Amino acid sequence: QVDSSVGGKVAVDLPQGKNLVGAFYQPSLVLIDPSVLDTLDTRFVNDGMGEVIKYGCIKDRELFDLLASYSSFEDLKPRLAEIIGRCVDIKRRVVEKDQFDTGERMLLNFGHTLAHAIEQFHHYERESHGEAVSIGMYQISLLAEHENLTPPGTADQILKVLDTYGLPHSCGIPLTELTEAMTRDKKNLNNKLNLILLNEIGVSRIYPASIDFFHSDRIV
Ligand code: GLY
Repeated sequence: QVDSSVGGKVAVDLPQGKNLVGAFYQPSLVLIDPSVLDTLDTRFVNDGMGEVIKYGCIKDRELFDLLASYSSFEDLKPRLAEIIGRCVDIKRRVVEKDQFDTGERMLLNFGHTLAHAIEQFHHYERESHGEAVSIGMYQISLLAEHENLTPPGTADQILKVLDTYGLPHSCGIPLTELTEAMTRDKKNLNNKLNLILLNEIGVSRIYPASIDFFHSDRIV
């Protein structure tokens, strides 16, 4: 409802990687009914919250603070329709400017370079997408803090909100084992990565880097 409902990205996963074949194909109409979420297991509601938190991180400090002000998903539920609308509106604005993902739309990939590698590492059978994005957002922010590319304490703020919505921030995989999957990701052509980093919560930027950015003994 908050991310893939809008923007027209359609794709399929191949054994070699996620979303390796796809197209941009815009729908005629998008209908979102938040009550449908009541039919989901808690794990997949939390999964969606990973993308909601992403929108707060990349574009909307107020949304992030709103999420941080609740103590659980149940607590936040009365504001759900408004929150979904806010995410969709951010995405609409981004996609209207950059439908084909050559500029600003890349900001929507915050956390995704690591996330795709994590999902692939366990053959898409362990972490859900939102869980992997959650780990990716926290871990990329931690790495960026160590390189003085993101202000200290940013990862910690993300961690607190992830905890509130039952989302993970680590998965026990050595970073070196994830780099191979990253080199196969279609977004990382020619060893060039467009990483998304936070200038601060609510403000993001594209940071061109190489795979060397991830050369570290860390376990993520
Ligand atoms: N889910 C990211 C995008 O639509 O670009």
